[in-house]
Amino acid sequence: MALNTRPLHPLFGAEILGVDVTRVDDATFAEIVAAFNEHSVLLFRGQSLTDEQQIAFSERFGPLEVTIRSINSQPRTLPQIADLANVDAEGQIIPKGDRRNLFNAGNQMWHTDSSFKRVPALASLLSGREVPPQGGETQWASMRVAWARLSPELQAQLEGKVAIHSFAYSRGLVGGDLLPPEHAAQVPPVPQAMVRVNPANGRKGYYVASHACEIVGMPTAEARLLIRELLERATRPDLVYTHRWRVGDLVMWDNRCMLHRGRPWDESRYRRVMHRTTVAGEGPTAPHLPDAVVCPASEDDLAWCRAQLEMAIGEEALEPSRPASESPEGAQSPAAAARSPRPSRRPPAPQSARRPARPARRRASPPSA
Ligand code: OGA
Ligand code: MN
Repeated sequence: MALNTRPLHPLFGAEILGVDVTRVDDATFAEIVAAFNEHSVLLFRGQSLTDEQQIAFSERFGPLEVTIRSINSQPRTLPQIADLANVDAEGQIIPKGDRRNLFNAGNQMWHTDSSFKRVPALASLLSGREVPPQGGETQWASMRVAWARLSPELQAQLEGKVAIHSFAYSRGLVGGDLLPPEHAAQVPPVPQAMVRVNPANGRKGYYVASHACEIVGMPTAEARLLIRELLERATRPDLVYTHRWRVGDLVMWDNRCMLHRGRPWDESRYRRVMHRTTVAGEGPTAPHLPDAVVCPASEDDLAWCRAQLEMAIGEEALEPSRPASESPEGAQSPAAAARSPRPSRRPPAPQSARRPARPARRRASPPSA
């Protein structure tokens, strides 16, 4: 029996109708996998899931990632659940401007999940448990659609290229001290292919994200411009699907070819609790690169990030959590540095990703350092 579907956007995405994900037989499951490869984003409405049920459905697609414990993860959830919530373990709304919300605000930059891991994620499944009455949408854009619109020259330029993705870099853009050294050490910069092919159907897409910060063999400034251009091309308003959440929605997407981001909402007023499971990818997308390096963010990089987040988080939320005078030199948050009249951060001179002036090791400490 063919699945009953409805398009989410003219270019990608499908709502799957009449399926209860806790009761899917093998034949239907095979159709869901085919729909996933074809449409890249699947919406299942009316699924009020426990974490165990969400994990059980997600595991049918492959082994799950275990979340790296961060400042905002709640020890009560199972390790396979990424808990994106503006409420604390006691169920209270986390106050406006709190670092835990700021950490989640990184999800408001266009990204693809776990591209900062050696083996990036295949799929994510996000379950709306408590949703705000306005704002807090999630948006998707397809790098497969965008690839098909590139000139053959630009396609040829990207083929075979490798980008470096770094969680410390992308979170460092949001706030300088969001990633303690022990967490940063778990996520060193990794190489990722810039063009990926879905083995099920041969469809290609490019692969960039907020975490992408260097391209091997290209000067840093040039690489960051190209990465931004690719992000902007993919996320033009007419290419974006915006999902307005209802409680019980389960959205699954293909991290190999889709960008996504969360949208702001009135966090001090409305609760938003989303539980994500993440299906691990099948292997690395690029050969190991022991000397992967990441140049510090330039003023331009910070300004670009700030422009994306301006609407999302207020000025005071971007202030460093302690006065700069108490911090060692350079420990000021990048966001604060961007505003600071004194040039505390020199934009790096352009250099190749392989032969850095600054060793990568430095970036393995918190992005503020
Ligand atoms: C995610 C994510 C954004 C959102 O779950 O991976 O980026 O809208 N979510 O919560
Ligand atoms: Mn995400």
